[in-house]
Amino acid sequence: MKRILIIGAGGQIGSELTLHLRKIYGDANVVATDVRESQALAESGPFETLDALNPAAMASVVERHRIDSIFNLVALLSAVGERNPQLAWNVNIGALMNSLEVARQYNCALFTPSSIGAFGNNAPKYKTPQDTIMQPSTIYGVCKVTGELLGNYYAHKYGLDTRSIRFPGIISNMTLPGGGTTDYAVEIYYEALKNKHYTCAIPKDVYMDMIYMPDVLKACVDLMEADPSKLVHRNSFNIASMSFTPEIIAAEIRKHIPDFTLDYNVDPVKEEIARGWPDMLDDSCAREEWGWNPEWNLSRMTEDMLSVLSQRLGVAKTE
Ligand code: SER
Repeated sequence: MKRILIIGAGGQIGSELTLHLRKIYGDANVVATDVRESQALAESGPFETLDALNPAAMASVVERHRIDSIFNLVALLSAVGERNPQLAWNVNIGALMNSLEVARQYNCALFTPSSIGAFGNNAPKYKTPQDTIMQPSTIYGVCKVTGELLGNYYAHKYGLDTRSIRFPGIISNMTLPGGGTTDYAVEIYYEALKNKHYTCAIPKDVYMDMIYMPDVLKACVDLMEADPSKLVHRNSFNIASMSFTPEIIAAEIRKHIPDFTLDYNVDPVKEEIARGWPDMLDDSCAREEWGWNPEWNLSRMTEDMLSVLSQRLGVAKTE
């Protein structure tokens, strides 16, 4: 049985991945850590506060809990990163370097998310290949490309089992993302239910890859369980499941809330970031090397998001 450490467990991915991994590997075998206390995570298994920028504290958790697999989920997202690039580099790369070093010292497997944000304007926009030019123009993207290179370097130099996925914008109904360029695709569901109206910061014609959280959880487990002899790539895999513009997601919401309206107040920083990212990734390597196969599309996700959130918010889904 694996002994897993999650760093940044209170964030958008971590808050659901922790519970998912606890179901699979047993509550006691998944140690959640975050810089902030979390009662929800402490209720279902071991939880410790941990500053991911403190290498001695990270090593101590790994040693005390006899950890063999680490998920490092610490990151400032793209839009917030542009407001303080130095902080974004220090947090994103600091947490990653500490994770790599602790993984090396204690011989742990290491999972780190990369992102569609690792690509920039010079990569092909449509069916962006697995292996292509990577020249991001955000500090977030620079950190992600650096992380991919460092993961491969530690695998090559030290034989470390590093694995990673380039995630699309993640849509979930539990924990909100914070400071990302793709956040609109989560906010739009809340606002549609609460106000039947949303003002979008992303221009109406911009396509970005998106993914629903259940597919994120499945991808993390499937990649970490994959037979290493089948992995030609490690850091990092393109995955894709849906790609849409604000107009397309709004039309889908209108199938359930017919009087939902959308207008735009475009944020120039987010617009530049979004236009620099791929429209749609080619995920054939993930499909071939570890059997990636998404289960959710835009219409099923919209139905599920609206039904879960309408119950939680106590508002009716339809007229
Ligand atoms: N969702 C992230 C962001 O928008 C991209 O990985 O920053």
